[in-house]
Amino acid sequence: MATKNKAAWIRAKHDKPLQVDTALPPAPGPGEVVIRNAAIAINPIDWKIQDYGFLVEHYPTILGEDVAGIVQDVGPGVMRLRKGQRVIGNVHGLDNGNPAQGAFQLLTTAEETYMSPIPESLSFERAAVLPSAISTASSALYSKANLALPFPSLEPKPSGKTIVVWGGASSVGSTAIQLATASGVTVLATASKKNFEYVRSLGASKVFDYKDPSVVDQILSSLIATSCAQFLGSVEEILGLIDRPETDADFVGVLDAVSTDETIACWKTILHRFENARAVVTLPVPAGLDEFFKVTSVEIHLLDSRDKDARDAVWRDYVPTALATGKLQAKPEPIVLNGGLEMIQTAMDRHKAGVSAQKVVVQL
Ligand SMILES: NC(=O)c1ccc[n+]([C@@H]2O[C@H](COP(=O)([O-])OP(=O)(O)OC[C@H]3O[C@@H](n4cnc5c(N)ncnc54)[C@H](OP(=O)(O)O)[C@@H]3O)[C@@H](O)[C@H]2O)c1
Repeated sequence: MATKNKAAWIRAKHDKPLQVDTALPPAPGPGEVVIRNAAIAINPIDWKIQDYGFLVEHYPTILGEDVAGIVQDVGPGVMRLRKGQRVIGNVHGLDNGNPAQGAFQLLTTAEETYMSPIPESLSFERAAVLPSAISTASSALYSKANLALPFPSLEPKPSGKTIVVWGGASSVGSTAIQLATASGVTVLATASKKNFEYVRSLGASKVFDYKDPSVVDQILSSLIATSCAQFLGSVEEILGLIDRPETDADFVGVLDAVSTDETIACWKTILHRFENARAVVTLPVPAGLDEFFKVTSVEIHLLDSRDKDARDAVWRDYVPTALATGKLQAKPEPIVLNGGLEMIQTAMDRHKAGVSAQKVVVQL
C-alpha cells in the first residue's frame, strides 16, 4: 500500500525558508526501520547548514537528525524493533546524502542500530531531545580514540576516573554527564549559575560558573584536591602536594560540548597541568591544536566501523533499559512548537536565537 509522505525541503544552498512539499514514501532496506514521526528536534547543525551553505553537496535534501515516533515498517534483519512500537532514532541523512534519512519529514528511514524503544510514560516531544546527543556523547566518551571510558551500566561501579564536561547545560553535555555517571566516572561540569541545580541533577558532582574569571583555577584546584585525596586522604598532605598535579593518574580529560575559541582556551590551561589528559571537541579540531595537546573530535560516522562496540554498548545495551527504568532522563527541557512541518523553519530560527538547558522540538 502506497503511503503518502511530506517533507520540509531545503532546495539549494542558503535556501530559506524550508519548503514543505511531497516526498517519496520510504521503503526500509536491510537493518532499517521506517518511523512515522510524531516529533522532531532541532540541532545547531541544521541552521548552520542553511546559513553557511557547508557540508551538504547535493540539493534538494532534507535536514534533521532527531526523530521520535512510531515504527511503521521494518526491513529485513531488524531484530529489536517491531511495527507499532514507540521509538526514538538518530538519523544520518547528512552523512550519507540520503534524504530518506532526514528527520524533517513525516516518514523517516532509520538504522535500527541508532534507535531505542521508549516507555509509554515518556512523551514523543520529550524523547526527541535525546537521539543525536546520545550518538555524539557515545563517540566522545567511549571511542578508544577519544576518552575511552568504561561503558555505561545500570549499576555502575566507581571507576576512580574523573572528566570535565564543558557546557554541561547543552544538549550534548546533558546526555554526556548522564552517560559518564552511568560509567562510574566523576563528572565536573561548567554551566551558567542558573543551571547549577539542573546540571547536578544529571549527575555532575561539582558545577563551575564558566563566566567566572577564576573558573579554570577553581577546576584545577578541584582536580588536584580530588587526586590527592584519593592518594592520601589528609588535607595537610593535599595542600602540600597542590603543585604536583602529575600525581593524578585518574583525570581522563575534557569533553568540550561547546568547542569555541573561548572554551578551548580554558581547557588548554587545564590540560597543560596533566600530562596524560586529553580533550574531545564537538566541532572540527582547530588547525595545529593537536600538535600540542591530545585533542580529537567526535566522529559519529565511525560508530558504524571503528567504534561499533561503543555504539552497541550505548544504543543497544544501555539506552532502552535506562529509559524504561528512568535512569536516563530525556533532558534538556523541550521548547515544543506545534504546527507540523511548516513550523520547522521557525523552530530553526528559535534555536539559533539561543537556548539554555533547552532543545527546540516540533510536534508533527
Ligand atoms: N560533531 C557532531 O557530530 C556534533 C553533534 C551534535 C552537536 N555538535 C556540535 O556541538 C555543539 C553543541 O551542540 P548542542 O546541541 O549540545 O548545543 P546547545 O544545547 O544548543 O548549547 C547551548 C548551551 O551551551 C552552553 N554554553 C554556551 N557557551 C558556553 C560556554 N562558553 N561555556 C559553557 N557552556 C556554554 C549554554 O549553557 P548555559 O545555558 O548554562 O549558559 C547553553 O545551555 C554545537 O556546536 C553543535 O554543532 C556536533
